[in-house]
Amino acid sequence: MKIAFFDAKPYDIPGFEKCGKEQGIEFKFFESMLNEDTVALANGADGVCVFVNDTVNAAVIDKLYDMGVKIVALRCAGYNNVDLEHAFGKIHVVHVPVYSAYAVAEHAMAMLLTSIRRIHKAYIRTRDFNFSLNGLTGFDLHGKTIGIVGAGKIGRVMIDICRGFGMKVLAYDKFPSGNDIQFVELDELFAKSDIISLHCPLTQDTHHLINEKTIAQMKKGVVILNTSRGALIDAEALLEGIKARHIGAACLDVYEEESDVFFNDFSGHILNDDTLARLISMPNVIVTSHQAFLTNEALENIAEITADNLLEFFDSGKCKNELCYHCGNVEKCKKSRSGKCF
Ligand code: NAI
Repeated sequence: MKIAFFDAKPYDIPGFEKCGKEQGIEFKFFESMLNEDTVALANGADGVCVFVNDTVNAAVIDKLYDMGVKIVALRCAGYNNVDLEHAFGKIHVVHVPVYSAYAVAEHAMAMLLTSIRRIHKAYIRTRDFNFSLNGLTGFDLHGKTIGIVGAGKIGRVMIDICRGFGMKVLAYDKFPSGNDIQFVELDELFAKSDIISLHCPLTQDTHHLINEKTIAQMKKGVVILNTSRGALIDAEALLEGIKARHIGAACLDVYEEESDVFFNDFSGHILNDDTLARLISMPNVIVTSHQAFLTNEALENIAEITADNLLEFFDSGKCKNELCYHCGNVEKCKKSRSGKCF
């Protein structure tokens, strides 16, 4: 089984090489991201393995299909970069639904603590033997209200972590479940939360969920955390909210236009994205470059589950982690009947 592996990074390769050897899968690693210009690299492969910023649009899908590629194996949970509607009936799409909810939720909390306790400032100061505390005053998390948007696997771990800090938790979910969580409508969550943390997927419903109008509903001084997907936030509106001193702080592990910059070293270059550059220049903004998933445990799980997905698919033509545009619609998606979506 030959798999063209796009957007390969040094931290991906050892785990996938090991799994590949054990499972008889030949991964061919390409540094390039998958897009219309690079899709030809997949020629001769049985499948492609992609990550969050690879482009799997209609044109790419058609080319993969023409080349005889059978499967797109996402080595991540989110799949907003895949045109699932276009892929249906042509090419199967599998993903890694869970690999470490702890990795992402713990990163969200790490960013929150760093931001509100000014650790990023203190770290730089003490390295310069500046031991002044001026301007480093933070606030207690205990007793504060956090609003969690999307109480799924990651959101729920975040809720547990926040409860451990003695915080009050409100949550909004399009499909709320369980009675151990206080679910409220989004308007109420925006109005009452001191901190808002996004853990829902990027869909048409959630695109620019945080925008000029919703920012105006939020408390002055609100802290916004986004470890989910960049386009949940209108970055221009966020910047304006920060400049107006309405938003107290923002912690961003994802950014709407991240595919042009994240995962690459631009030090020594001029950054073309003015909004990102301005956000990074703010003392109350912390940006990490889609790093929340990056733990040893998560990388190991990602490689193992992706290899299992590929083996299961090529051995049986089915995969429990397949997803499609019609999943949930038993008339159109055959997964509940035949084990594969089409
Ligand atoms: P999940 O599927 O377990 O949970 C998502 C939750 O969002 C579900 O409860 C769902 O009902 C809810 N939801 C769906 N539509 C919604 C809407 N319109 N409004 C509010 N809630 C809605 O997914 P999981 O594993 O918790 O991941 C959440 C997100 O985290 C993923 O979609 C992905 O974008 C992001 N992620 C980011 C990573 C990073 O490294 N920064 C790594 C892994 C995931």
